Amino acid sequence: MTVKKVKKAVIPAAGLGTRFLPATKAMPKEMLPIVDKPTIQYIIEEAVASGIEDILIVTGKGKRAIEDHFDSVPELEQTLIEKGKSEFLALVEETTNINIHFIRQSKPMGLGHAVLQAKAFVGDEPFVVMLGDDIVQAEVPCTRQLIEEYYKTERSIIGVQPVSREVTHRYGIVDLKESIAGGLHKVESFVEKPAPGTEPSNLAIMGRYLFTPQIFKFLETQKAGTGGEIQLTDAITRLNEMQNVFVYEFDGKRYDVGEKLGFIQTTLEFALNREDLREDVLKMMTQLIEEQTTVKITI
Ligand code: UTP
Repeated sequence: MTVKKVKKAVIPAAGLGTRFLPATKAMPKEMLPIVDKPTIQYIIEEAVASGIEDILIVTGKGKRAIEDHFDSVPELEQTLIEKGKSEFLALVEETTNINIHFIRQSKPMGLGHAVLQAKAFVGDEPFVVMLGDDIVQAEVPCTRQLIEEYYKTERSIIGVQPVSREVTHRYGIVDLKESIAGGLHKVESFVEKPAPGTEPSNLAIMGRYLFTPQIFKFLETQKAGTGGEIQLTDAITRLNEMQNVFVYEFDGKRYDVGEKLGFIQTTLEFALNREDLREDVLKMMTQLIEEQTTVKITI
């Protein structure tokens, strides 16, 4: 039997975004911009660059702006044409030529519950889940790397990266069973946010997963776990008992835009990487640092 192509991606975006309150009171956290592009657009671009053909975004209350962002805006487009602003027109049109579907999660009952909403969309195919909190810059897009590994193993694969031991308590950490080759490992179990010093490894789950459709069997019967939510990790643990789950140490730099400091760092770094901004941003940063150190000395 030939291996099924991975063509579908699911992006859960129904969380409350409490870490960014009050900004996220009326605006989806996925629409917060890094420089001038909403974070979710970086994720969509990675999916498209990885060969994904259909994307399902799981939204919830107060998330209409995401749907609007990926819709066409005829009046705006017309005005840009009339004013001859073709470079802006291209930017606006970039987001409307992709196959994006939406489904709502009625209540934020957990990441596992959000992924379960994709069951009918996915059908009997392998698919990827991409979380908006992690942006990955890589030569070969992170999701593409997972897809390539899937074609070798035909099993669910989760993207991981090593983190320093001091921060393992903030992540889902992998207990490895067996290392296969080139960053690919079989998993014994997952430990969610281990107490400092108890972590079985320093490999942390990042927001990229590739699942066989068997995951839905476990999501459907998954009871609420930590925080009263249906946890994706709990369903993966049960899937692993029936069918080996792998982790893959993907190449690339990962940016955590789901928390404030990571968001600020990403914004600065992405601005510095832009030719049109780099020089001015560097000047501004140097000036700020000077001001801050001067203030310190005066105190
Ligand atoms: P987080 O745990 O980071 O929650 O969810 P959050 O709401 O996005 O952010 P904070 O922690 O309150 O600041 C991880 C991912 O799962 C999605 C979120 O949108 C995010 O992409 N999610 C979470 C759902 O889609 N539904 C849920 O019920 C929970």
